Amino acid sequence: MSSPKYAGVYIENLAEKVYIFNRLIYMNHASTSPRKSERVKDALTGLFTQDGILSAGRNFEGLEDGAVMLRARKALMKLFGFSSATNVILTGGVTISLNMILGGLLKPGDHALATHVEHNAVSRPLALLQKRGIIDVDFLPCGQDGSFDPRSIGKYIRPNTRLFIMTHASNVLGTILPAEECFTEAKRFGLFTVLDAAQTAGLLPLEMNKNIDVLAFTGHKGLGGLPGSGGFVLGRDAAAAIDPWITGGTGSASQSLEQPDFLPDKYESGTANIPGILSLAVAVEELLERGLSPIREQTKNLTRRFLDGIRGIPNLVVHGPGDAERSVAIVPVSSPGWDNALLAGRLFDEYGIITRCGLHCSPLAHQSAGTFPEGSLRFSFGYETTEGEIDAAVRALENLVGRAAGRRGGIQAGN
Ligand SMILES: Cc1ncc(COP(=O)(O)O)c(C=O)c1O
Repeated sequence: MSSPKYAGVYIENLAEKVYIFNRLIYMNHASTSPRKSERVKDALTGLFTQDGILSAGRNFEGLEDGAVMLRARKALMKLFGFSSATNVILTGGVTISLNMILGGLLKPGDHALATHVEHNAVSRPLALLQKRGIIDVDFLPCGQDGSFDPRSIGKYIRPNTRLFIMTHASNVLGTILPAEECFTEAKRFGLFTVLDAAQTAGLLPLEMNKNIDVLAFTGHKGLGGLPGSGGFVLGRDAAAAIDPWITGGTGSASQSLEQPDFLPDKYESGTANIPGILSLAVAVEELLERGLSPIREQTKNLTRRFLDGIRGIPNLVVHGPGDAERSVAIVPVSSPGWDNALLAGRLFDEYGIITRCGLHCSPLAHQSAGTFPEGSLRFSFGYETTEGEIDAAVRALENLVGRAAGRRGGIQAGN
């Protein structure tokens, strides 16, 4: 059996049938945005074709490290409605940002609150701090559709509760959580607040305000930058509460063995990922020019079209809100009798459709949804997803799940 060729114009499935694709149908945008814009590519080409820029040269106009970083900070500051560029901390992504924030903030005896749909980027650092006996954590219950009631925060408050951290949208179910209401509620109890905006930055309007202490983002999803880029924005007084978690060379105050106390150096040590940061700067500038509403509208319409298309398929279960208005462009499904990995494999092998199956780094969300431990099959769409691709995915599910259900009287056994 010859092996599938993914990079070319054709794919052979396991049965050696040949399907012609102009390109693969990528429906895994919740993991990463695969194609970077022409402007991003041009900027990176420019960076790498400046002789020696990365090793020795720090003098090329506009491409000097500090200039690239400032450009990114300014674009991100604008995107997140904040007025201080030095409060934008550039890191390797949201996971490292959250580790830095939680590790630097929480002290022995603290109690932390998070929701039951957090990504492991939140839940694992919290669980580790708990395991080490440093903090106590409660993951607050969510509905089966991923919904979260801000009023539940009050029920879990203890005298030592210090933090409320939440994802803005579940990467498993797509559900958008009511961040504003949650943070207003958390502030009533004087909690430090952190928003994980991995799934919503570049999609939903996000403005820093007095109720958000830290907003953490990743560069390679909706923002359109390279993997390994991202960061966090610190509210006015947040830096005073967070000790540096990574220390090292900053190129400033080098006479001292102590980490500088000023921003952004307090949290930025080591040689920066300039290609990643440049990609982020250019991608966010582009986003600002385009505005977020066309992206939200387009991805909402695609989600609605997909939901409408799959609703009638026998034996296919839609998880999450099943409502484009209440979610980002994520639709998890499963089918009784189908193994999710097998279905994902068939979608890829026979239709060239790339999805993501399993637990999506969020066992808690699957527990909330009732899909633990088997997980689900997640479709997620981006601005470049076309209606034709949505229809192709609907047809593929009809063919694989729907017809099989019809043939076998409703339940697909043993697949
Ligand atoms: C809600 C959420 N938080 C955190 C992360 C981690 O992002 P990264 O791997 O870019 O650090 C993801 C990635 O899927 C996510 O969806």
